[in-house]
Amino acid sequence: MSELPAQSLETPAPEMLTLALSKGRILKDTLPLLKAAGVELLEDPEKSRKLIFPTTHPQVQILILRASDVPPYVEHGAADLGVAGKDVLMEHGAHNVYELIDLQIARCRLMTAGKVGVPLPDRRLRIASKYVNLTRNYFASLGQQVDVIKLYGSMELAPLVGLSDLIVDVVDTGNTLRANGLEPRDEIVQVSSRLIVNQTSFKRKHALLQPLLQQLEQAVAHASSAL
Ligand code: ATP
Ligand code: PRP
Repeated sequence: MSELPAQSLETPAPEMLTLALSKGRILKDTLPLLKAAGVELLEDPEKSRKLIFPTTHPQVQILILRASDVPPYVEHGAADLGVAGKDVLMEHGAHNVYELIDLQIARCRLMTAGKVGVPLPDRRLRIASKYVNLTRNYFASLGQQVDVIKLYGSMELAPLVGLSDLIVDVVDTGNTLRANGLEPRDEIVQVSSRLIVNQTSFKRKHALLQPLLQQLEQAVAHASSAL
């Protein structure tokens, strides 16, 4: 008697959803929303060196990335979904993704800031920021050409040591600006974190995604009404 080929006895692997998050405030603020949608981490990423985490939902796994790396993972479909700040999305450009839900977490404002009481010089301005595209676009929208200096952190230092006239960074309490003798100048945009979904995943995995998206929306509405 001939045996059936092994492949025909295999059950197909269950379709998975991969969600990209970043450590720190986005992870902390997203976890309660995910819990309400039936997704809980089986291990604490803040205490682990792992980068892929299974969850209580057998078809959902979570990737832990740098905040600014979330959009490219979702854009290219390596993650189906991700949570990223509006600042990061504006800087990266939202290609091939749908921005589906404003999760209303990690709220802050993207602002220009400069040294307290120091007027701007009468020449082409130098602006330090990690948001180089966004900064160029913002000043271009004002009809101003500026030199943008790319930094990766501690932007507040730049005006203090003469590297730049202004910075573009996120501001929440204003404590970091104050502690460094800087003042907020102009608000560029209000920021909160958004759930983004790869456009192909949205179509192809619709049945799996839909209940999760609905439960997340409800969790956001519930969290906002509790404020
Ligand atoms: P990366 O590691 O890629 O440089 P990051 O250090 O900016 O990213 P976080 O500090 O965790 O990452 O910030 C993640 C997001 O949280 C930001 O993109 C922004 O939308 C928001 N955010 C940043 N700082 C604050 C703040 N002080 N208060 C509230 N939200 C903030
Ligand atoms: C962010 C941002 C500012 C600060 C603003 O830094 O880059 O420095 O928050 O918040 P505040 O107005 O409440 O002071 P974060 O705390 O994320 O540290 P990081 O520079 O390591 O990202």
